[in-house]
Amino acid sequence: MLVSAKEMLDKAKAGKYAIGHININNLEWAKAVLLTAQECNSPVILGVSEGAGKYMGGYKTVVGMVNGLLDELKITVPVALHLDHGSYEGAIECLEKGFSSVMFDGSKYPIEENIEKTKDIIRRAKELGCSVEAEVGAIGGEEDGVTGNGEVADPQECKMIADLGVDMLAAGIGNIHGVYPPNWKGLNLDVLADIQKLTGTMPLVLHGGTGIPDEMVKEAISLGVSKINVNTECQIVFAEATRKYIEEGKDHEKKGYDPRKLLKPGFEAIKEKVKEKMILFGSVDKA
Ligand code: 13P
Repeated sequence: MLVSAKEMLDKAKAGKYAIGHININNLEWAKAVLLTAQECNSPVILGVSEGAGKYMGGYKTVVGMVNGLLDELKITVPVALHLDHGSYEGAIECLEKGFSSVMFDGSKYPIEENIEKTKDIIRRAKELGCSVEAEVGAIGGEEDGVTGNGEVADPQECKMIADLGVDMLAAGIGNIHGVYPPNWKGLNLDVLADIQKLTGTMPLVLHGGTGIPDEMVKEAISLGVSKINVNTECQIVFAEATRKYIEEGKDHEKKGYDPRKLLKPGFEAIKEKVKEKMILFGSVDKA
């Protein structure tokens, strides 16, 4: 059964580790992430962007697929199904269709409007026992057509949004989605420390997990980050493994064109990457 992300995140915050939020893109992704979480005995959050939700056939399809996998693969670790960077309308739809957690990304609205809309999503989610993530300061880079400017969040604004009753808070600290440019300055850990000081026990979320050096990730966790979002890294290893299979001509050997064979190296590559992240984040055996 899907669970709200609240309990796993509160425990992670108290225990100074982070839960992996791994974006899923299709059946292979969902299955790979769930099986790895089970093998690692680690709680996990499956992230679904609005674009990925559409790609998979709609939110109801995603809910049906994930619930079916939990049941038939006998997944017993805590799993949350979370809308990533949801619009106001998208968050409402996902709550109605069976997601257990939503992010309402109101960072494009003026702060007053962000607050009003966030309050409304919190009220709806609470009624259903679901968790809510809010964002202050747009995350840079481009994800599914949503482009942010890489802002650094104002700690006071973070406090204001945290006090509305969200369960987790994403704050821009110079992180961006996708591969970091060579001249990237790194995370602004001073601002992260200020945000953590003001927001206390609130689990903080680090988006753009791909390509942040391991030591910086560990420091961010020590400063209150309890959820780390990873998407691009899994996409890259999946594409590389699939390319290798094709370039070696394996699709021409026997029934190598069978999707169950063709997609297997990519599937295994995702599993390996997710395991690596769970070890780095410290969530192994925390289920
Ligand atoms: P990356 O694609 O950089 O890993 O970021 C993922 C993310 O933050 C999803 O919200």
